[in-house]
Order: sequence, then C-alpha cells, then structure tokens
Amino acid sequence: MSKPENILVAVAWPYASADIHVGNITGSYLPADIFARYQRLKGNRVLMVSGSDSHGTPITVKSDAEGVEPEVIYQRYHAEFLTLFQKLGLTYDLFTSTHTENHFKVSQALFLALKENGNLYEETQEQWFSESLGRFLPDRYVEGTCYICDYEHARGDQCDNCGNLLEANQLINPRAKMDGSTPVLRETTHFFLDLAKLQPAIEEFLESREEYLRPNVLRQTLGQIKAKGLHGRPITRDLDWGIPVPVEGWEDKRIYVWFEAVIGYLSATIECAAISGNKNAWHDYWYKPEAKAYYFIGKDNIPFHAMMWPAQLHGAGEWFGKIFEERENTKLTLPFDVPANEFMNMEDRKISGSAGWGVLGLDFLSRYDPDSLRYYLTINMPETRDSNWDWDDFVSRNNNELVATWGNLANRVLAFAHKQWEGKIPQPGKLRAKDKAILEKVAAGFSSVGDLLDAVKLRAALLEAIRIASEVNKYLDDSAPWSEIKNDKAAAGTTIFTAIKAIDNLKVLLAPFLPHTCERLHAFLGYTEPLFGEQFTETQKDELGEHTVLLYRDDQASGKWQTSQIIGGEAIQKPEPLYTKLEPSVAEEERARLRS
Ligand code: MF3
Ligand code: ZN
Repeated sequence: MSKPENILVAVAWPYASADIHVGNITGSYLPADIFARYQRLKGNRVLMVSGSDSHGTPITVKSDAEGVEPEVIYQRYHAEFLTLFQKLGLTYDLFTSTHTENHFKVSQALFLALKENGNLYEETQEQWFSESLGRFLPDRYVEGTCYICDYEHARGDQCDNCGNLLEANQLINPRAKMDGSTPVLRETTHFFLDLAKLQPAIEEFLESREEYLRPNVLRQTLGQIKAKGLHGRPITRDLDWGIPVPVEGWEDKRIYVWFEAVIGYLSATIECAAISGNKNAWHDYWYKPEAKAYYFIGKDNIPFHAMMWPAQLHGAGEWFGKIFEERENTKLTLPFDVPANEFMNMEDRKISGSAGWGVLGLDFLSRYDPDSLRYYLTINMPETRDSNWDWDDFVSRNNNELVATWGNLANRVLAFAHKQWEGKIPQPGKLRAKDKAILEKVAAGFSSVGDLLDAVKLRAALLEAIRIASEVNKYLDDSAPWSEIKNDKAAAGTTIFTAIKAIDNLKVLLAPFLPHTCERLHAFLGYTEPLFGEQFTETQKDELGEHTVLLYRDDQASGKWQTSQIIGGEAIQKPEPLYTKLEPSVAEEERARLRS
C-alpha cells in the first residue's frame, strides 16, 4: 500500500432555506459520500466537510416572507439536513454551518489577507434601490431579464438558465422581489475582489488542471475567461444578516454570502481539527500542496468554485496564516478537482422546489430504503449530461438489478450455506479452474472499480461492480450447487465457498455505493467489527449561540479495499433479504403524488 494521501472531500453547502430534493442529492452530496467512503477503505486520510449555508439573501428573503428572524429559518433547515444526512448515510466528518464564531473569524481573516495582499479595492457603484421599501436590493431581492440569454427570471446574482454570474445593475426590466416595484439605481460603496488582476493566476491554475477538469467545468471557466475576461466583483453587501466586514466604518455592511460560504471548506476543516482534539490537523489539508481537495458541486456552482474560490485562495498569498495564526509560509492549497454534476430532471421536467415538482429526500425515505435511493441516483448520476428520474425505471432497476442481480445472489448463497453446512462457510476442496477464474474476475474489480472511483466516474464504477455480480451469477448458474449437492456435497461446498468469497469481495466493491446493506451483509458473513464508522451529532455553544453538528468517527474502514480473506469453517448468520422488491404500481402512485 502506498503512503496514505490527505484527501479533502469538500461538498457544496446547501442553503438553509429550502428542503433537499433528490436532484441535490445526486448532484453533490451522494457522489461526495461514495468517493469519501472509497478513499477511506483504500486507507487514505479523508476529511469530508460541509455545512448549512446560513447567510445571504436566500435566507433573508424567506425570513422576510415568514416574518421571523433569519436564525429561525437557518436552524429549522439545518436540523432537517442533519436528519436526512444521517438517514442517507452521508458520512460528513463534519457538517456544520456558516453561522459559527469560528467561521466568522476564518472568513474575516481571509478577507483581510486578500486586502493586505492588494487584491481588494473599494469602489462606488450603482445598485438597485427600492424607494417603496427604502432599501437596497442585493442579489435575490431583485429579478429581471438576463442580459446574456434573455431568460426572464434571472436573479441579481446569477442566471439559473445560462449559469452565468451577473452584474445586477445590467439586468433588463428589473423588479423588486418583495413587492414587484421597479427599483432605481443608487450609489453605494463596496469592496471588490480584483479578479482582473488575479485572472492570470486563475488561468494558470485552470490550465494546470485542464486534463482533469470535466468539460462542463472548463466551458464555464476557461471558456468564459477567453471570451470575456474577468472583472472585479463586489464582495460586500448592504444587508444586516451575515458576517461583518472587518474594517472600521463598514459596520452596516456584510460580507457577500458566496465569498464567505466557500471559505466554509477551510473553516470547517479547522473546526473539525479542533473537535478532534488535534488543533493543527487542518494544516495537512491546507498548507500542503500535495493534499488533494475535491469539490463536489452542481453545475450552478461552477464559477464560484473553479474561479472565485481559487482566486480567493491564491490571492490571499501567505497572508492568511499570518493573520489567522501568526504563521509564515502558509500558501493555501488550490482545488485538485471540481467534479461538478449536471442536473437530474424528474419525469422529464426540471425539478423545482417552488413549482413543487420533485421528490424530497426525507419524503422518499419515509417510504423506501436509503440504499435503493443511492443505487438509483448513482446509476442515473448526471456526470456528463442532464439525467432523468423516471419512476418506472426506478422500480425496474430496483427489482432487476439491485434485488435480482445482487441481493438475491447474496441471499440465496448465504441461505443455502447456512442451511446445508450448519451455519458455517463450507470447507472447500482444491479449487477448480472455474473457481479460480471467477475469483480472479472478482479480484480484478478492486482495480477496475477502484480506478473509475479514483477518476470520479461513479456511475461507470457502479455498473462495473454490477457487471461483476452478474458474472458471479453466471458462475453459480453454471455450477448449480443446489443439484451438485445431491451427489457430491464436497463439490457443492467448493462452489459455495467460492461464491461466498466472491460475495465478500463484491460487498467491499459495492460498499461505497450501498453502505447500509453491505454493512448488514458484512454481519451476515460473520464479521463482528463493522465495515465503516459511526455518525452522531453534538451540540456546540459559542458567541453566536448553540449549533448542532453532524460528525463521523471511523477507525476501521482503512485498509479494507482488498480481496477477501474469508476461510472455510467460520460461522455465518442466517441471512435476511437485503432489498425490497417493489410493486410496479408504485410508479403510478408516485407520479400521482408528484402531480398533487
Ligand atoms: N448554498 C449554495 C447553493 O446551494 C452552495 C454553496 S457551496 C459553498 O447553491 F461552498 F459556496 F458554500
Ligand atoms: Zn442567462
């Protein structure tokens, strides 16, 4: 085994203002978890971090609408995310929020680092102001027609149709979100990130990762830079909810939510180290250029992660360490990969929370099992193009692939062994050519599936593992131990031993995708230590109040990505079915639910 690598699995921070739907899950949270679990099994030092994005106009627009404080909104959704992520088995080493004292400090230090390093400037700019409301209308408080693609419902900060970041004051036909009134332009002063100055460094970073980055990421970054170049962007706002600007005279403005949310990757790593009791452990992920940071995001987040965030990290130079902890030689590590996914549609229509078209994560889990969701979302992951959730397809893949190809394979072999060999794995005779051949095919999965996982081709990796399961089915059908046993129990024992070993291997290959059921199977196979670690919550208290975080502790996964060492004679448990077969009528019921 080569030297363990430090791998930061950085996952998009959901706005704490909307329920999480299956499209969000397949877009970034699930792929991150699959990748993290695999890297842990391989023995790498993984840190998977994220949290609730609790500031900015998504939260305040909602709190205004409900007439409650922004804290109430953020805490409500945050609590819901913790429940969902635990049920789905998303093993964040830390899922925190941006509303913590630690995050405020880290964000302000990074802001000041950019300022000291000469990468911020102040500029007075015209911004939309509502005379009827008596306030500025930053970001989501204003909507209008996109000046790039003509989409009529673009927001002040970004167009959901073409994905471009927008200059709010160029919106065509602007309207105030709150009362529909037409705003006027009024002057206000903000800090700007000097992206024109940082452009060469961003280009150099992107070009250095060009081989690695997905085409959708290159299109929205290098493509945009070549076409239009980068211009300074304001990173403060006229708002009162959020992180104060750490400069005298700026008390009534806040740091722009996007500028600070991405800093969450850094602050969460710092928080995680503090919780673990090894305060400086985060240095391994941020001060070492060889550490690998993977950012799992949806396509609407590409410009912020692949241009703005690298600009922030690079632009801070060595100043972050100096300001935050009086430490020299502290360049922050740039992204290694940004595996951004496209979108998944629901029954051929764009998922939309506001239009009520979609399936919420928690709602799904109230009727079906988490691994059945994880399976379908991986097989359908929009890695290279938009994908589509189709309820008939969901039922048939669940029944034909998860239940028939994999679940039944494990179940019938273990049940047969348990019954015929007194609850033990049979002692094999000398392995025959066909036994060796199937075990070799399965063992090859550790590199074929592993290479695909390393390249973040998760859909292909799962298909490869399922293909191997079909091979094992073929081997079993050909050997037919159920008839073999009638005249040669020893031969049947060799077959069943071989099949159990193959299943034990498949269990590991599938574990990153299907952790709940593979964990159960692991116990059926007689292991007493679980495959993976444990998730739990903890409540912290700081200057800003109480907040609950989701944590993960794992001392055992490491080193398990290797061929099975199982031997004959060991006890196994009586298995139970791992998956539930669904009635075809489920599809119709679920479609009706969508429309209601
Ligand atoms: N909250 C943003 C969204 O849901 C994502 C932010 S990712 C972050 O689109 F890193 F910037 F937080
Ligand atoms: Zn547009």
